[in-house]
Amino acid sequence: MRRWTHVAMICAMTLTGCDDYLFGELEDGPDDVPAQTGYAGVVEIAQSQCLGCHSAATMQGGLDLETDLHAATVGVTGQYILPIVLEGQPRESMLYMKITDSHPDNTGTDMPPGSGGISDAAADVVFDWILDGAPR
Ligand code: HEC
Repeated sequence: MRRWTHVAMICAMTLTGCDDYLFGELEDGPDDVPAQTGYAGVVEIAQSQCLGCHSAATMQGGLDLETDLHAATVGVTGQYILPIVLEGQPRESMLYMKITDSHPDNTGTDMPPGSGGISDAAADVVFDWILDGAPR
């Protein structure tokens, strides 16, 4: 038993090292990745990458992510008659689909527009928050 545990640990360590080696050069700049996870991390992403267009003053696409991001997104149906955030269902949520450029046809562009989506690390924070039930 003990030996198998050891092997599993070495495998996990090797994979992690491998990952660093393969993807290290492609890592995004630090500004692109939130320092926090959960709702705080999502707010951080919005502040650094979205409020230029989705502030209370700009509200492009009718979306204000500044005043109260939670109230503006969770359980809200957007202009494409799709949920902006559907609790527990990131892949059904426009917030996640837009930032990963995986939104349905005829539902506008990726977010930020033309970016191809935000970094995987940042998108994962949004994914996990929604999967977790999108708590405040
Ligand atoms: C340069 C301006 C701009 C930036 C920056 C931007 N957006 Fe948008 N956003 C828009 C516009 C314009 C629309 C409406 C057209 C569309 O859906 O493509 C929109 C629509 C959306 C929608 C769809 C709302 C609905 O009704 O379903 C979501 C979700 C969204 N944005 C999230 C974000 C997030 C998250 C970020 C930051 C990562 C972001 N946007 C950054 C301009 C922007």
